[in-house]
Amino acid sequence: MASLTGAWAQPAPSINSGGIVNAASSAPGAPVAPGSIASVYGNFLLSAPSWALGIPLPTSLGGLSLAFGAVEAPLLYASSGQVNLQIPWELAGQPPAVTATLAGQTSAPQTVNLAPFAPGIFSMNGQGTGPGAILDSSYHLVTATNPAAAGITVILIYCTGLGAVTNQPETGAAAPSNPLAVTITKPSVTIGSVPAQVLFSGLAPGSVGEYQVNALVPSNAPTGDAVQVILSIGSATSNAVEIAVQPPTPDQRADQLLTQMTQDQKIQLVYGAVGTATASTRGGAGWVPGIPQLGIPDLYLADGSVGVGNGVGPATALPSSIASAASWDVSEAYKYGSVIGAELRAYGMNVNLGGNVNLIGREPRDGRTFETKGEDPILAGKITAAHINAIQAQHVIGGIKHFALNDQETGRTTADVRIDERGMRESDLLAFEIGVKDSNVQSVMCSYNLVNDVYACENQHLLNDILKGDWQFPGFVMSDWGATHSTVAAALAGLDQEQPDNAFFGSLAQAVASGQVPQSRLDDMVHRILRAMYATGLFDYPAAITPIDTTGDQAIAQDAEEQGAVLLKNAGGQLPLNAAAAKSIAIVGSHADVAVLSGGGSAQVTPTGGPALTEGYPCPPCWAQVIWDPSSPLQAIRAMAPNATVQFDPGTNPATPAALAAASQMAIVFVSQWTSEGMDLPSLNFTDAIHSPPIDQDALVAAVAAANPHTIVVMENAGAQVMPWLGSVSAVLEAWFPGQRGGEAIANILFGAVNPSGKLPITFPASVNDLPRPVIATPPDSTTPFPVDYSEGFNVGYKWYDSQGLTPLFPFGFGLSYTTFSFSNVAVVNNPTSGNPNFQVTFKLTNTGYVAGAEVAQVYLAFPASTGEPPKRLVGWQKVFLQPGAAEQVTIEVDANDSSHPLSYWDVNSNAWLIAPGVYTVYLGNSSSSASLVTAGTLQIGS
Ligand code: BGC
Repeated sequence: MASLTGAWAQPAPSINSGGIVNAASSAPGAPVAPGSIASVYGNFLLSAPSWALGIPLPTSLGGLSLAFGAVEAPLLYASSGQVNLQIPWELAGQPPAVTATLAGQTSAPQTVNLAPFAPGIFSMNGQGTGPGAILDSSYHLVTATNPAAAGITVILIYCTGLGAVTNQPETGAAAPSNPLAVTITKPSVTIGSVPAQVLFSGLAPGSVGEYQVNALVPSNAPTGDAVQVILSIGSATSNAVEIAVQPPTPDQRADQLLTQMTQDQKIQLVYGAVGTATASTRGGAGWVPGIPQLGIPDLYLADGSVGVGNGVGPATALPSSIASAASWDVSEAYKYGSVIGAELRAYGMNVNLGGNVNLIGREPRDGRTFETKGEDPILAGKITAAHINAIQAQHVIGGIKHFALNDQETGRTTADVRIDERGMRESDLLAFEIGVKDSNVQSVMCSYNLVNDVYACENQHLLNDILKGDWQFPGFVMSDWGATHSTVAAALAGLDQEQPDNAFFGSLAQAVASGQVPQSRLDDMVHRILRAMYATGLFDYPAAITPIDTTGDQAIAQDAEEQGAVLLKNAGGQLPLNAAAAKSIAIVGSHADVAVLSGGGSAQVTPTGGPALTEGYPCPPCWAQVIWDPSSPLQAIRAMAPNATVQFDPGTNPATPAALAAASQMAIVFVSQWTSEGMDLPSLNFTDAIHSPPIDQDALVAAVAAANPHTIVVMENAGAQVMPWLGSVSAVLEAWFPGQRGGEAIANILFGAVNPSGKLPITFPASVNDLPRPVIATPPDSTTPFPVDYSEGFNVGYKWYDSQGLTPLFPFGFGLSYTTFSFSNVAVVNNPTSGNPNFQVTFKLTNTGYVAGAEVAQVYLAFPASTGEPPKRLVGWQKVFLQPGAAEQVTIEVDANDSSHPLSYWDVNSNAWLIAPGVYTVYLGNSSSSASLVTAGTLQIGS
């Protein structure tokens, strides 16, 4: 008889229908493979979850077991609703069904969809979607914050279901690490649908049921934060998970290439091959042969401060770099740099040796002044950065030089510059710091001279501490030509490449072999050179030799001169000349009938069309030829004034031009001052280094001015000049070395087709006696280091004259226009309570004259006296073009975090830029002279 009262019966555990899933992909009903991890869902009647505590895995957790026929499965985890298990390796002969047993009761069997392969990739959300459990070889998750590098990164894919392996462990036992268990069938992997090379596929050592597949992210994989990774094996395909992929960084590419290089190949890259048996087929100043087997291109090095130098080929002779600085316009400077970059590239040159940012305001007689960007570190740094950015955009490694304090040519290889830390940080080094940081420049040339008793190219403090340490410069340091003085000391101090030969780094291999230079240092040198090549695209965009764009580049040359020429004097509105009214014009001097002058030395450009004229080899420097660029001011002036009689006198004897001037309506005297690398000027007067006997150009101007009150002087020179005749002439135009479209540009300015807007990037002192060193320090002989005392520290240029109370002939920032401007509604805006010291100067700028023109609004800052800073520092500017009568509301932003440290001083105690509390005065105007500045406001920083 059936009992009606039977006791309550313990239910048996149950497994959901279709409740066995691949643990990685979590796809219901999807197959699972022997050896893999699976999850089983059901009602397992456990009161508390239970975990396996070790390997080998238990076959029972909390009394629950799961079995495939007679084979019990190893368990990782069990709860009332879920069990994670390893599908036993050995299922042959067992039913494809699983049962759960608890307390002697067994569930109904549930069919398992078994397959030899059931790939699933583990994901971070446990659902088999989104970011995958995929690591890089440093075992970091590959996500948006740690993307894989296409072509570089090997990813470790953690997955399951890849079937039988060699060296197969017991069911439930740990995967062996030696020898590794490798899958019998190799899976394939796609990353963003692109097949990836599989480097390893096997069990993840130490795990149970988990596989690891190592795959190289293909170089052509798509990039992004969610690139799908899919694995297939046999005919089975996994779920899709995501990784982040980015193009490889230059550092990653360099590191990868480095691993393939032999020691000899590494050594080959750290010095120039000039003077060896083979030679560069492309000319230039230097050459480093590449390594074709590894795809490493040759490095072809050429100067390019004012156009492509070294006689590489006829190139556009731009106006001087200092003229580019005189534009005070970084977008103009970018165009200037783009000509250099494009023409270097067209000649197959891929390393530029330009970027001369030496602050020659310390020594305006410096023969290389024309290559530089003037005396102010901020203006010079920003203009140089614009040049370099433009050059590197053409896939040419940009350079910045000469690091550091190479501010005179006299005794340049033995000059021992003495300067205090703060002085150099806030002057010459600041120009480099801005140039380096704002341009991502990839090479720095260390200089010939010594700094505080140590040669610059083995100067640990300059190279390792400051450049590579404080500024985090990632590129390479090359020596100036022959500026290396040691092997071990230079290598350890941070020199990465000797130029132009291997006089010292030829011994580097031995120095590494003997342990004097660590292998890691050699690897770092090579890494830096390769990363520079990658960063500027030398591998990806190899130079193809093409014709240069003569027309386009000459147009930029002319524009650069028109923007950079500075009108210094214009008494009685002498300029612009009235073409219609001009009847007779005397043109005098400086070969103005055929040419304009250019500067000499390594920056010398061979102009397209060839020089108009060449003259001797003045001594010093005794090796540089004088080249006159083919642009005739006479012809350009004639074209402007077709109704005037325009006559030329060479000016070699003051009497004849004076007579011509007397007989003419007006006279335009061209004075010129040739300078070159390898020499300094004997004075700030217009001396004549070219001719013997020299032409006394000061006397020439005086004679012409005495004969005609309408005398205009056009100066073709490098930098600051004194002008004893200034009071007797009516107008003066500083044309610098004006480049091969200089004649046209000068004529355009003289006749008002262009309104001058250049501003001096260098102070013109009243006398050579006002310089920090009226007499240039000279060496005792050619080998003994001699001191050059820079005790003026950061007081360079206008800061020096301000600090000494000296009134210059023309102040820094000065330049006239054919129109007039007014500043109104001037205010300083800041937010002192925010703790952020940034400020803006706001004002209305109005063109109050009758012609369109541009003004350069300049902001200077006076620091609290407690800081000991110079009386004022340029901290910002803006060039604004306005139609006559037009006005514009202008804001100049001064950001304390800018690379120029506009609100900071260098604190020697903390070795850092600091902002001092106190009251700051903000000035606004159109030159550094106090007379041209208004107080825009004051700032209180801190308490
Ligand atoms: C100059 C460098 C120049 C190098 C290669 C040296 O004499 O000082 O500025 O880049 O030659 O021409």
